[in-house]
Amino acid sequence: MIGRLGRCLALLLALWMTVATASLARAEDYVPTVLITGANRGIGLELARQYTARGWKVIATARKPAEAAELRALAAGSDGRLVVEALDVTDLAAIDVLAAKYQGQPVDVLFNNAGITGSGNSQIFAKKMDWPVYEQVLRTNVIGPLKMAEAFLPHILASQQKKISNVSSSQGSIGSTKNGMLYFYRPSKAALNMEMRNLAIQLKSKGVSVALIDPGPVDTDMMSMLPKRMLRPVTTAGSDLIRITDQLSVENSGTFWTFDGSVLPWLERP
Ligand SMILES: NC(=O)c1ccc[n+]([C@@H]2O[C@H](COP(=O)([O-])OP(=O)(O)OC[C@H]3O[C@@H](n4cnc5c(N)ncnc54)[C@H](OP(=O)(O)O)[C@@H]3O)[C@@H](O)[C@H]2O)c1
Repeated sequence: MIGRLGRCLALLLALWMTVATASLARAEDYVPTVLITGANRGIGLELARQYTARGWKVIATARKPAEAAELRALAAGSDGRLVVEALDVTDLAAIDVLAAKYQGQPVDVLFNNAGITGSGNSQIFAKKMDWPVYEQVLRTNVIGPLKMAEAFLPHILASQQKKISNVSSSQGSIGSTKNGMLYFYRPSKAALNMEMRNLAIQLKSKGVSVALIDPGPVDTDMMSMLPKRMLRPVTTAGSDLIRITDQLSVENSGTFWTFDGSVLPWLERP
């Protein structure tokens, strides 16, 4: 009787060890996935480069993949780890279609990067305000990122890291604003900050963490009006964004960081 019980226990132990070893091996084999919007140029392309070099799976979106030569070259040399998808973040139905296409695919980091300023000349108060441009800025910088987070929430929840990282801007810091300009871009980044702060609070109990990161002034097409000496190399900005995203957790979720890891003010008295 005791001998049979012993054999049963030994069998159960062996079974448990097989299952435990298999799941440990699965955890070690796990390759994280990042989904990046606006990955065909600038900061988004650099994020795609650096995550690919780290061995991650990368879903890199571009409005016009046919014109995204650098991104397609990166994909070609990635052993299939980087895939390029067409996506305009203002097309909410297209976001749903992309999310459905990747149903069951965990997304460890959603990088909401795509963004526009709307050009400084079209947002000069009481002189030249191009209102349709304002709508496009809000659709791109505010509505797109939140819709991405909603559509890809199941994918994020299914992942190990469960992170949403947003490329914000110091221009969205109400407390830091010292002059009257960029009437479209600044409120768009302030709104992005607020919606993502909401999300950080709501999703904390599900283990999802949310970052808002200002990359500083970066040498991309967006800042081509400034002399290069005033700008940070895109490689440095990319690694700063990735380092802060690596350090993101549910404990520090909802923070508005600048590229060096210091915290930006949301709002304070001028
Ligand atoms: N550069 C800076 O100094 C700086 C500073 C603070 C914050 N940021 C933020 O950093 C992010 C990236 O900017 P960047 O400097 O890399 O600018 P960029 O070189 O102008 O690149 C912007 C990217 O966003 C994409 N995009 C624009 N509208 C889109 C839409 N409706 N749907 C999908 N993609 C769209 C662009 O795609 P197309 O090629 O199709 O236009 C491009 O890939 C933005 O959110 C920006 O606000 C930049």
